Amino acid sequence: MLAQVMRARVAIRAAREKTMDKKTQSQSEGDLTEALFKEGEIYKPSKDVLEKANLKNYDETVKYAKENPEKFWEEAAEKLEWFKKWNKVFDPSNKPFYKWFIGGKCNIIQNALDKHLKTKGNKTAIIWENERGVSRKLTYSELSKEVNKLANALKALGISRGDRIAIYLPNIPEIAISMLASAKIGAVHSVVYAGYSAGALAERINDAEAKILITADVGYRRGKIIKLKDVVDEAVRKCPVLEKVIVVKRSNEEINIGEKDIFYDKIVEKESDECETEIMDAEDPLFILYTSGTTAKPKGVVHVHGGYMVGVARTINWVFDLKEDDIYWCTANPGWITGHSYIVYGPLMAGVTTLMYEGVPDWPKPDKIWQVVEKYKVSVFYTAPTLIRAMMKYGDEWPKRHSLSSLRLLGSVGEPINPEAWKWYYKIIGESRCPIMDTWWQTETGMIMITPLPVVPLKAGSATFPFPGIEADVVDKNGKTVPLGKGGFLVIKNQWPAMLRNVFKNPKRYRETYWEKIPGYYATGDLAAKDKDGYFWIQGRTDDVLNISGHRIGSAEIESALVTHEAVVEAGVIGKPDPIKGETAKGFVILKEGYKESQELVQAIKLQVRKTLGPIAVISEISFVDKLPKTRSGKIMRRVLRAKELGLPVGDVSGLAD
Ligand code: WTA
Repeated sequence: MLAQVMRARVAIRAAREKTMDKKTQSQSEGDLTEALFKEGEIYKPSKDVLEKANLKNYDETVKYAKENPEKFWEEAAEKLEWFKKWNKVFDPSNKPFYKWFIGGKCNIIQNALDKHLKTKGNKTAIIWENERGVSRKLTYSELSKEVNKLANALKALGISRGDRIAIYLPNIPEIAISMLASAKIGAVHSVVYAGYSAGALAERINDAEAKILITADVGYRRGKIIKLKDVVDEAVRKCPVLEKVIVVKRSNEEINIGEKDIFYDKIVEKESDECETEIMDAEDPLFILYTSGTTAKPKGVVHVHGGYMVGVARTINWVFDLKEDDIYWCTANPGWITGHSYIVYGPLMAGVTTLMYEGVPDWPKPDKIWQVVEKYKVSVFYTAPTLIRAMMKYGDEWPKRHSLSSLRLLGSVGEPINPEAWKWYYKIIGESRCPIMDTWWQTETGMIMITPLPVVPLKAGSATFPFPGIEADVVDKNGKTVPLGKGGFLVIKNQWPAMLRNVFKNPKRYRETYWEKIPGYYATGDLAAKDKDGYFWIQGRTDDVLNISGHRIGSAEIESALVTHEAVVEAGVIGKPDPIKGETAKGFVILKEGYKESQELVQAIKLQVRKTLGPIAVISEISFVDKLPKTRSGKIMRRVLRAKELGLPVGDVSGLAD
């Protein structure tokens, strides 16, 4: 079965290479789609799902949203609380710097916390557990108080509207509390995934010019203690603008206490648990989140209060069909956009109980994840294909040891889900009872964009249709729609409220990356095809961004990490299909004079990449080469490396220098 997954991946990659190669384009597009669409069995929603769905009249809604997009989003906004209503829903006058809910005054906290205090203060907002069996529950009222105390402490440290706060924390309640406290006082959070290295953390702190960093002494993972504070100490030395480091102390591990360090408990203990929510402009920034692009420098994607809260609230309610008594578990990490929108803000705005788990799904035993589902009676479960494939590998007996009867709806995100994994997830985890929402979206889109809703008939491996109000299409490089069944570039033809507003301090990059690649449209960077029924099949990235276990990382970022090793002159990095991770990174390395190829050197270089970028950027293979294929202007042609590595046609090499 894994071989099958592997073959499908290679086929997808092959088709993708061909799609990019103009010469072979027309002959190749058909091959790909045929391979994918053979899986075209339809899974219809059950009577029960149809009856209970939050959105029942799907077709009319899609039609209505298409004809009245502004009214459609305005009605979504009206379901939320605002301090002051907007004067205008959408302003496209300064393209591509679009604005939403102009003149509106709000704060996402008003909807994520404040409004619930009247009606569900005693309801559990967050359930947290870690792999050591330690757990904590916070009601909406308790959570709000914790947020207020930290918000007051931040103000006492001189933080005010618009200031940036970096957050580098494990998956513990304090990560959510820190994000919410930042939003509450109108500051801008920038969460950095706690698997990033000191260098990557410092780069993000410096780009955001963060004044404060919130971190912890340690994190726990796979039975090990991760000494976060050591990483932070190294990063902080490179961050002159940073004024204070707030440390959540969780263990008795010895840590270095520097002059910027203060303890979380100490600063919150004396603060009041009441705090006014800052009245923000709808277009005021809520957070910056760094993501990988085609260059080595990550992009600071900027999201704002108003549109983001509207888009996230509407999508979570319809896609996951949330009900008052749902126990909702998204296994992502708050350090990624999925965690921002669908662990923290989305579920809290919906007023359900959101579960956070610190640890890995298969430790100490491969059924850990299913044990957690059973223990907390999780009803809505949202995860990534890489995790599903890894669990599938352990065999059906592990989930079968547990009652999964509480589950009623499943979700998938982060990369294409191959039909085999989809079917396993559907049958074994969902017990053929739970519809699967395969949700396509990005850090930049802020909210789910292409997805089924529970009433939509499903096809294993297809994200089905755009969310109502979203005009997605598959086009050629000139923006012309390609015929059904053909591969092409995935674009969004209109605007949506939760869209990114800018790349932090880099409007040029914002404009060029997203709005100028394909005339008039938002370029997603993904390839896709639509089948004869109009279902979307996402095939992966067109650019040199890898997707390793659902984590985005640029080839260029790994290349620049490789050349930090003293033995390496130059390097090219490509993604290779992998049956579990989706993709892994392979590096082609030119050694400096005097260095000799050896296994030790391979290990040392791999370690250097890990040290430079963090454990998420593992490089699985290294080959030593004398030369790299380059264009005349000196750019590495990764396409050629990939084709040779995978034994695929190399395609058009007229641009090759040598
Ligand atoms: C990929 C994660 C196929 C895609 C929310 C996109 C997917 C990138 C899916 C964004 C899906 C995400 N099917 N591919 N359901 N969801 N992707 O910014 O290539 O971390 O461009 O956001 O992940 O990754 P990001």
